[in-house]
Amino acid sequence: MKKLLVFLMMAVMACSMMLAGCGGEKKEAKKAEPAKVLRVGTEPAFAPFEFPKEGSKELTGFDIELIQAIGKQMGTKVEIAGMGFDALIPALNAGNIDAAIAGMTITEERKKAVTFSDPYYTSGLIVMVKKDNTAVKSVNDLKGKRIAAQIGTTGEMKARKVEGAKVTTFNTQDEAALELKNGGVDAVIGDLPVVEYFLTKGGDKFAMTVGEKMEAEQYGIAVKKDSKLAADINKAMAELKKNGEFDKIYKKWFGEKK
Ligand code: ARG
Repeated sequence: MKKLLVFLMMAVMACSMMLAGCGGEKKEAKKAEPAKVLRVGTEPAFAPFEFPKEGSKELTGFDIELIQAIGKQMGTKVEIAGMGFDALIPALNAGNIDAAIAGMTITEERKKAVTFSDPYYTSGLIVMVKKDNTAVKSVNDLKGKRIAAQIGTTGEMKARKVEGAKVTTFNTQDEAALELKNGGVDAVIGDLPVVEYFLTKGGDKFAMTVGEKMEAEQYGIAVKKDSKLAADINKAMAELKKNGEFDKIYKKWFGEKK
């Protein structure tokens, strides 16, 4: 009996020593344990929404800061992967990414394939031509003309509706603009805020916009069709709107709210 008691006492001591040791380690292990990860896809040549920081591969922009803030709010780590714009919806459907943030317009067509978050930015399309172009004053003057647009975008869709137009698609908005510069096309149709940003960053040396903003477009974050992640994202975004964080990010990239 006595022996058993001694044994038990030693066992208890040994255990508590181990626990003390283990306790510390456990805490550390917990810290190092990666938080849940939100795998986000984007097409990262779309300033000021998503683009590489100067001289770096790291991405920045309104969308990037917004999704990072959303991830933080949701308590998840955010990992961002770049891919072609037309690859984003297939990547969502294949389960390779959990969400796509890419200045993506909420359209009825896309809603058949994916689920969108609440809208987070109001956009629209614009026509860009060479500065010396006096013939094209709006989209109505583009009939039968050569138009460039980024592949898979609403800009491409709009261009395809122009009667007799010859539409060429490019992987990025910048490549479409370059084609305009090189004289390969007469016009580019693209997202207004992106075209405007491009012009202010030196594009105005050779290009300008014409006509009015076309189509009322809303950007949304896309998730896999019917994924409940959309609700979590909406909840986080609503919180960011309430606590001023959304406005802070918006102002940083676009100035005061219009
Ligand atoms: N808003 C347009 C669309 O949804 C263009 C988006 C392009 N985005 C990008 N990251 N390249 O079709």
